[in-house]
Amino acid sequence: MISINDIRKPIIGDLEAFDAFVADNFSAEGELLQEMLTYALSSRGKGIRPILTLLAASLHSPAAVSATDGKERHCTKRTYLAAMLVEMIHTASLIHDDVLDSADERRGKPSVNAKWQSNMAVILGDYILARTMALGMASAQYDLISHIGSAMATLCEGEVLQSQHAKQYDTTRDDYFNIIYRKTASLLGESAALGALSVGASREEVDRMRKFGEAIGIAFQIQDDILDYRRDNNTGKPANNDLREHKITLPLIGIMEEASEEERKEITTLLSRCHEDDKAVDRLQDMVTERGGIAFAAEAMQAYLSRAMHLLSKYPESPYRQALLALCTFIAERDM
Ligand code: IPE
Ligand code: IPE
Ligand code: MG
Ligand code: MG
Repeated sequence: MISINDIRKPIIGDLEAFDAFVADNFSAEGELLQEMLTYALSSRGKGIRPILTLLAASLHSPAAVSATDGKERHCTKRTYLAAMLVEMIHTASLIHDDVLDSADERRGKPSVNAKWQSNMAVILGDYILARTMALGMASAQYDLISHIGSAMATLCEGEVLQSQHAKQYDTTRDDYFNIIYRKTASLLGESAALGALSVGASREEVDRMRKFGEAIGIAFQIQDDILDYRRDNNTGKPANNDLREHKITLPLIGIMEEASEEERKEITTLLSRCHEDDKAVDRLQDMVTERGGIAFAAEAMQAYLSRAMHLLSKYPESPYRQALLALCTFIAERDM
């Protein structure tokens, strides 16, 4: 079983420098804002996006040894900035996402909306986005910022599409992939692409890294949607929240595609009750597991991971290539 620490190992020096960079750059004016910001930033997530940025940068850059602590570094300040941009956009998007999804738990703690109400969560998310963009502009790394701006817009498009379909109970397989490409894969694609761009990789390499990030991004979201059906997961998020919010994700799409017209109607009726009826949630949870919805989704995820791994075959053996391969395995195995 691969752990996140195995993946972090080859870039540990750079990750420490990145953490210090974020701590130096991110603070808020005003007591309440500072309190909320500290709360949101102190419960750390897995950090997949900055890991991806630093690994993609390291894969394309020769090592330099730091004079002060003797540890190897591959990344520049520009890489740390890129990693900060993607992680902060992700952090803000989760704060807003929990408002949209009425989710009361995040990273094992009450969500910002559960603790301070939705209106405060909206403004905190906006504040993080605004500070992120201001820091980006001040750094004058306009190529990085312009990519980040597009990724933010795409993420919002995905969230809106998802909400629209959740109201109509009509998400098809194509809709689903369109949604998750926009809300998740696009930002992971930029995380990898900007890492390579930050160290001067060629356009072809940057594009390859974007494709890699997008492929693992699709897989990452499929696994997130599978974990939503696993009540024993360690994500620190409420299980079955997708059903409660009427979200049709890949495990459910799998069984709907196999169902008769009558059964599909039954599923839609059950789904429409999930917001207030735990029995409807239990029934759908059982149907999805028993009829192979989880296995169907897992198979689709594997196809994206194989595609991602194949993109790495262009690179010679190195600890960074190895860590990116390990990241692919981690995505499929994770329960967090
Ligand atoms: C959660 O992302 C939202 C999705 C795109 C599935 P992560 O699982 O990366 O969240 P943290 O940052 O580790 O908490
Ligand atoms: C990912 O979707 C959300 C974003 C890309 C912001 P989810 O709604 O499934 O994410 P979780 O499960 O709440 O983390
Ligand atoms: Mg959510
Ligand atoms: Mg989810």
